[in-house]
Amino acid sequence: MKNRKGIILAGGSATRLYPITCAVSKQMLPVYDKPMIFYPLSALMMAGIREVLIISTPIHLDRFKELLGTGENLGMKFEYKVQEKPVGLADAFILGEEFIGDDNVALILGDNMIYGPRIERVLKAANKVEEGGVIFGYQVADPTSYGVVEIDENGNAISIEEKPENPKSDLAVPGIYFYDNDVINIAKNVKPSERGEIEITDVNKAYMEMGKLKVIPLGSGYAWFDTGTPDRLSDASDFVKAIELRQGIQIACLEEYAYNNGWINESKVNQAIEKYKKTEYGKYLQRMLDKKGKQQYTEIFNSELFE
Ligand code: G1P
Repeated sequence: MKNRKGIILAGGSATRLYPITCAVSKQMLPVYDKPMIFYPLSALMMAGIREVLIISTPIHLDRFKELLGTGENLGMKFEYKVQEKPVGLADAFILGEEFIGDDNVALILGDNMIYGPRIERVLKAANKVEEGGVIFGYQVADPTSYGVVEIDENGNAISIEEKPENPKSDLAVPGIYFYDNDVINIAKNVKPSERGEIEITDVNKAYMEMGKLKVIPLGSGYAWFDTGTPDRLSDASDFVKAIELRQGIQIACLEEYAYNNGWINESKVNQAIEKYKKTEYGKYLQRMLDKKGKQQYTEIFNSELFE
């Protein structure tokens, strides 16, 4: 299978969250009990992606380096890149050209969190597609502030628009995208939109026009939050808190994914347990080691029952 690298775009000035973000990066803010960036990072890990480029502003990049380091403690490899100005999501592929090399790539926005039944399976399925692009569709009450995709009965994209006033469907496009290596050239040819950004929606349009854009509609019951406003940030925190306390689990526990992916051994997990020993995160990891693996049952699926 062709290797796929991951990019987390954690830039922007987050003015909709002022004054919270006057001096702190949005993607560092807590979503209940973890820094926001843990959630998108865990999504890449669930997909099976091991090499990740973190892009942020000149002011904030060093804080991310301090938080996440080289990735070695997770059996991963992290690289970092400054984005001088927020010129659009597609810029991630231009900034990331050298990092991506000849591989395929997935981009996730540093303020997006996605969670739900068998999400690991869904992300792994997207990761397996070697040619073209794969995006997701998520039904929302008001799609006007998102990319909006319209699909036919086979799940093929038939239109895609950025923040349409009159949306053709109620399927918003979450900020997680899987592409083949062509995305670098496609991104380079995208012209800035009216808001002056090179839009990811135009990248998706290019794939759609080539007949190479697959859409995975997430059914009901999934959680997708973009945490760009105080209300949405607080909704995401409430969601994580409700699930974690009720079920005694942790969402976005990075060492859990690394361990279950076979990227780290028990001694690395023990280092994390020591570091986080005063928290539920640390206790959860201890329970994982005691049980020798998975703490959640979402990926156990008896397909016979569903035929
Ligand atoms: C961006 C994309 C949009 C996507 C959204 C997801 O919007 O342009 O297509 O639906 O992220 O969070 P922005 O955050 O730039 O408004």
